[in-house]
Amino acid sequence: MIKYIDQAKISHQRVLLRVDFNVSLSRDGLRIADDARIKQALPTINLLLKNHNRLILISHLGRPKKRDLKYSLRPVAQRLQRLLPAYKIRLISDFQNPIDQRMLAKQTDKELVLLENIRFYPGEKKACESFAKELSLLADVYVNDAFGVAHRATASVVCIPKYLPSYAGLLLKKEIMMIDKFIKQSKKPLVAIVGGAKVSSKIHILDKLCQIANYLLIGGGLANTILAAQGYELGKGQQSYEDLEEARRLLYLAGQRKVKIILPVDAVIGLPEVEDEVGEIRSITDLPLNKYVLDIGPATQALFGTYINKGKTIIWNGPMGYFENPSYSNGTDFIFYAIANNSQAESLVGGGDTIAAISKKEYLDKITHLSTGGGAMLEYIEKGTLPGIEALK
Ligand code: 3PG
Repeated sequence: MIKYIDQAKISHQRVLLRVDFNVSLSRDGLRIADDARIKQALPTINLLLKNHNRLILISHLGRPKKRDLKYSLRPVAQRLQRLLPAYKIRLISDFQNPIDQRMLAKQTDKELVLLENIRFYPGEKKACESFAKELSLLADVYVNDAFGVAHRATASVVCIPKYLPSYAGLLLKKEIMMIDKFIKQSKKPLVAIVGGAKVSSKIHILDKLCQIANYLLIGGGLANTILAAQGYELGKGQQSYEDLEEARRLLYLAGQRKVKIILPVDAVIGLPEVEDEVGEIRSITDLPLNKYVLDIGPATQALFGTYINKGKTIIWNGPMGYFENPSYSNGTDFIFYAIANNSQAESLVGGGDTIAAISKKEYLDKITHLSTGGGAMLEYIEKGTLPGIEALK
């Protein structure tokens, strides 16, 4: 059984809190483009602070292979400072360094510590036990509130619970309850919409969606891979051999399972590095080799819209294109409004980028549940649990 923090009395303790602050940054990497994931962790942070605990927050940001300041959590620490003005936020650049350790030892309950990007340490990805043990020595209690990364079996997600009394935070609790309810109540037709750029991690989950969905609409980088696997020339942008193989396997499986896969028929193309460029609309059969596919086109929007309207259950993860640039955000906006407009459907929308793309929009209340997890949400739908949840049991 998982213990949740609101069912336990955690007070006057040092708490190691795993959060998912993997937020979108501005193009220069200096500012946060969207802080929805940080705000979603505030109920847990505030509850623990109210009970006079000293918090040490752990998060990752992006996928750095080693220490790289481009992926520093400094902008996150600055935003946290604005959101929690009554506390002093300290970013600890290396908890293994004796100077930083002395700072940690002096932490008061009016200070909140954020450890620098946990992916700067090779032990994190390797789920290294000695690394987890080292982290566990910083605290008395471990709390996981990082639903978005609960599908990754890394040291800070699955190993630390072996060394400390461990609990789930309020966000993890909310996600589990809402998604469970959603799956149990789902009515047909089920329309799944998947986009985004993380092709290799998503293509496996599409297998599961092929089993439960009636219609699978695919946009974003993922659609490019599948279209390339079907032999289309997609201009600039490389597809890995493994991804193309996976895409072919998916098309084969979908054929056997009677799910209808709907792919883009047109695209907005351009060069992402050129500011102020207005994208050009082209048919999928007529893409020049010197530009990238950066959004779905209007004909694809109309096509996807007809399927979204049919849905009684809708699951959406991943933007339709390079939404950070307004020239390529129409497709993603369209999907959001089409879902919000379908009043007969229950909808589950998730993923860091997806939330960043829609979090400031009107009609967010029309979405049944907005999940902080992207891959995690899809894997939870697939398996009914996640490594990070199992580790707390
Ligand atoms: C996410 O954004 O889906 C989570 O933060 C996990 O990130 P990852 O896919 O880089 O592990």
